[in-house]
Amino acid sequence: MGRQVVSSDLPAHQECVVSSSKVVVLGIVCADVIARPVDGMPERGLMVPIDQLELHTGGCAANVGIDLSRLGVVCSILGKIGRDGFGDFVLHTLEQEGVDVSGLRCAGGIQTSATVVLVAPDGERSFLHCLGANAMFVSEDVDMELVRSADILVVAGSLLMPKLDGEPTAEVLRGARESGAVTLLDTAWDASGRWMKSIETCLPFCDYFLPSEAEAAMLSGVTEPEAMAASFVARGARNVIIKLGDKGCLLRTEDGVIEHVAAPVVSAVDTTGAGDAFVAGFTAGLVHGWNASRCAQLAVTVGAMCVTATGASSGVRSFAETVQVMEREELM
Ligand SMILES: Nc1ncnc2c1ncn2[C@@H]1O[C@H](COP(=O)(O)OP(=O)(O)OP(=O)(O)O)[C@@H](O)[C@H]1O
Ligand SMILES: [Mg+2]
Repeated sequence: MGRQVVSSDLPAHQECVVSSSKVVVLGIVCADVIARPVDGMPERGLMVPIDQLELHTGGCAANVGIDLSRLGVVCSILGKIGRDGFGDFVLHTLEQEGVDVSGLRCAGGIQTSATVVLVAPDGERSFLHCLGANAMFVSEDVDMELVRSADILVVAGSLLMPKLDGEPTAEVLRGARESGAVTLLDTAWDASGRWMKSIETCLPFCDYFLPSEAEAAMLSGVTEPEAMAASFVARGARNVIIKLGDKGCLLRTEDGVIEHVAAPVVSAVDTTGAGDAFVAGFTAGLVHGWNASRCAQLAVTVGAMCVTATGASSGVRSFAETVQVMEREELM
């Protein structure tokens, strides 16, 4: 695998970065405005004061990129933002986190994707989402030179990029594969309802397909994780991992071996970004040359650590700390 990354100009948490693989993450990025507590919509025309309004980065690719960075893996992000305040915020935050943003397209006349997250007093979240630039992310925006230089390509948030989902994503995966990269594909909830029609064409180019249980059910039309995995393998995926929330994950490797990897038992505070943390953990394992089973162990550990704190990445810690937790199997 590729180059050695030198750690001189990296943020503190990446001081001992030792990524010898080039990781590229393609997918959705957005800005999240989180309002809490919100006990219903204000009456028409009126203002309701609230305690907290915070701005965060969000979107699968941004989350995976930041989580990888926390785990000491430098990566490049391929995505699209608008030339606006949210876009500046996303760009600078990713840079500060040590993520390479040279593949992030910034276009005039479109809005950066953003979500208003309304958090009720009991913690339940409701969302107002503007698809913005993610809906305008097209093949021409994808820096194929960067893709071809990757040792590992992660597609994060597939099914939420209407102009790139399906055949265009398959072409990017094919390009990465042809240049020798290992490919991973994670899905998001498909608002268009196309599901397998979009994903089917991508599966033959996926070394690791990692949907959540709910998404895998919609894609495959079956309810048992083993049957879901079988249906994706039948369509060409090499290895399949079904994320099962607090039950961990089901791994089906290319030699047909099935393993159920339990999630560490934690007290979950906020499950935002758990799927992305899982994908980052799995990818970090691959970077370290681990086999799929050990990668899945690391992935469930990162996922569990993620849900112990509020926000998509606050609970994600360094590689060394995570491995320690994984080996001791203890989490607070
Ligand atoms: N309550 C929990 N306790 C321990 N681990 C958890 C919990 N929830 C999630 N995880 C870990 O995080 C992983 C991903 O969570 P989940 O299965 O919900 O994925 P997802 O639906 O893709 O998530 P997201 O909604 O963030 O996209 C799980 O496979 C598990 O390892
Ligand atoms: Mg998910």
